[in-house]
Amino acid sequence: MVLVTGGAGYIGSHTCVELLNAGYDICVLDNLSNSCEEALNRVKKITGKDFKFYKVDLLDYEGIDKVFSENKIEFVIHFAGLKAVGESVAKPLMYFENNVGGTINLLKVMTKYNVKKIVFSSSATVYGDKSPAPYVETLPCAAINPYGRTKLMIEKILQDIYASDNDWDIALLRYFNPVGAHSSGLIGEDPNGIPNNLMPYISQVAVGRLECLNIFGNDYDTKDGTGVRDYIHVVDLAIGHLKALDKIKNKVGVVIYNLGTGQGYSVLDMVNTYSKVLGRPINYKFVDRRPGDLAEYYADPSKAERELGFKATRTLEDMCRDTIRWQEGNKNGYRG
Ligand code: NAD
Ligand code: UFG
Repeated sequence: MVLVTGGAGYIGSHTCVELLNAGYDICVLDNLSNSCEEALNRVKKITGKDFKFYKVDLLDYEGIDKVFSENKIEFVIHFAGLKAVGESVAKPLMYFENNVGGTINLLKVMTKYNVKKIVFSSSATVYGDKSPAPYVETLPCAAINPYGRTKLMIEKILQDIYASDNDWDIALLRYFNPVGAHSSGLIGEDPNGIPNNLMPYISQVAVGRLECLNIFGNDYDTKDGTGVRDYIHVVDLAIGHLKALDKIKNKVGVVIYNLGTGQGYSVLDMVNTYSKVLGRPINYKFVDRRPGDLAEYYADPSKAERELGFKATRTLEDMCRDTIRWQEGNKNGYRG
């Protein structure tokens, strides 16, 4: 059985679908701080399969222990964590406590139950602001905000655990920019409040929940002056986790993979493709750069392709079409 922490969240729910479709038994642990149980009902609807859900916080050691005592867990996919960069700057202790503290509790319980195989959600943010694109896994790392530091610290903690006990097998997955939704339109990204990220912002402008997209800067040294990122369809990303799981079934130690497409798209590429697929324009205006943003980065995805057999196949049009289907069918997300 696979324990999915943060399984009610955006990437977690899509990964639950792929795990269930591939025949895995799963159970989900989530405190629902940034998600709702309805996402898991939808996962059950899509797959026609049932699984246990524990509303548990990773800061609650006894709660995690109960999940392990009641289930025969062999693997953990660890998504649970807070992820808003700006909030992490304002509330660093909350981020260190939740992300690092929560992970330490999880790892302590895993050690107790002799479960030593874990896939961890890291981020391209660990490459810092000095590395040239494309980002390759061997580059030095340096985080530039508290959120990024939690990711880097957890990567180090996991490497130290392996150094102390070679029985562990650990995959550190560095995601680029996940977007899109399941093709059923039943699950997708449902941020609380005003979205921080580009794609949910565009999609809420498209359905009239927000008036106008602010494009943060048009004077970057990029092809059209707007920021460039490596957007990966969330279902491709989810499939990457199954490949990583296959990998750590063998004795591999600590492995690190970028999960991206290797293709950079600008903010204007995203807006224009979304408008084209939607069939009407998206209202936008240029505003100042957002502090902390980098001009351009994208993955070198070749290691994951070589060693995991993972290659993202969904196109930018797929990402837009699936986001539109999700957002049109769920104008206010899971809250109806
Ligand atoms: P999400 O917020 O939708 O999902 C995270 C889930 O973790 C939520 O359901 C939340 O309720 C849960 N959670 C948070 N703290 C918890 C705690 N203490 N105990 C139990 N549950 C807790 O985010 P997501 O986009 O699905 O991201 C999943 C993971 O991937 C996160 O670790 C995130 O940092 C990482 N990541 C995301 C992105 C991105 O752009 N979405 C990029 C790189 C890495
Ligand atoms: N952007 C806008 N307007 C918006 C939102 C974003 O113009 O309203 C632009 C940004 O300036 C950037 C691009 O769209 O050029 C993408 O921005 P996102 O906020 O969607 O994503 P980021 O690349 O800034 O951040 C993502 C994750 C972080 C993670 C980081 C590095 O959200 O958690 O990638 O991996 F740390």
